[in-house]
Amino acid sequence: MTSMRPFTVLSVLALCAGVARSACAAGYPMGYLKADGRMNATILPLMQGLLAVSIAVVVIVLALVVVGAALRFRPGPLADVPIGESPSTAWITIGLAVSTPVLLALVVWTSITMARIANPPTEPDLTVEVRGHQWWWAFIYHNHDPSQIFETANELHIPVGKPVRFDLTGVDVIHTFWVPSLAGKTQIIPGQTNVTWLEADRPGVYRGQCSQFCGEQHAHMILTVVADPPDVYERWREAQLRAAATPSSDEARLDEATFIERCAACHTVRGTRADGHMGPDLTHLMSRSTIAAGTLPNNPGYLSAWISDPQSQKPGALMPRPELSGPELNRIRSFLLTLK
Ligand code: HEC
Repeated sequence: MTSMRPFTVLSVLALCAGVARSACAAGYPMGYLKADGRMNATILPLMQGLLAVSIAVVVIVLALVVVGAALRFRPGPLADVPIGESPSTAWITIGLAVSTPVLLALVVWTSITMARIANPPTEPDLTVEVRGHQWWWAFIYHNHDPSQIFETANELHIPVGKPVRFDLTGVDVIHTFWVPSLAGKTQIIPGQTNVTWLEADRPGVYRGQCSQFCGEQHAHMILTVVADPPDVYERWREAQLRAAATPSSDEARLDEATFIERCAACHTVRGTRADGHMGPDLTHLMSRSTIAAGTLPNNPGYLSAWISDPQSQKPGALMPRPELSGPELNRIRSFLLTLK
């Protein structure tokens, strides 16, 4: 049995290493120890430096505690240890002499890094207003030409290699805008506008998350950033600008009317009379890969499940159970599936 022990320990370590390696290979979605964008590339060396210094401090302090305890250990009753013999003053002086320059260097390094990331390297052409809601994200793409402004939700598209400015506003409680592999966190505080920026180095899908506890469904307040090559982004933008298609048959008109009757109080579908703002803009719902802020995949099955009982999918979400009849559910789902 005893000879098995080193083998068992080694197997467990090998298993842990394997799990860790496959987790990294799978592209841990919320990894902040990697840089997929310019802001994180600036922050990352500082983060690694601070981590190295912190580990060194823990190791040195633990070593001093162990060595000090071993040197000062005396057999016999405690009363035999003479009082006042402690060399602690010398140790405090040495500690201050070593730690002060290190801490000062870190303050300077941190300040330089913060100044470098305060603004993007070039003036952004695109500004997106982010509105944090319990528990979803509204994105309003601003433009000096009002006809080019549009709104979408939960899935953000940005052109790759270009900085994008984000004006962060909150409508209810404090949220935090965080896309770990692209940039650090910025608070979203109701009543004020905080500003940040993102730039992705290469096309891809980057996961973000509200990182300020904001209530029951905080963990399901996910945002997805899709970095597109400029031409793909432009096509996406043009598609988002379009209003929903006008229904071409009586059936389709009835589907739309049922949606407006039951859902328009809270949702907007541009090109129809639906103009509510309590919930996400649904004009191009089917262009998104998930619904309910990254909680469910966006396909007809989950869409039906969500519409018929959102509370069973995301308990506490601010969309009430609509109590639809079977035919109403079918009509509304058919209408939603046209929102490409
Ligand atoms: C009282 C307001 C309200 C009503 C009425 C309402 N919704 Fe919602 N809806 C919301 C809110 C709020 C959310 C966001 C929930 C979340 O993700 O936390 C939402 C989310 C959604 C989503 C997911 C959108 C996305 O991109 O994540 C769909 C689809 C949707 N609603 C469809 C409907 C339909 C269809 C109806 C009518 C049967 C309806 N809603 C009625 C408030 C409402």
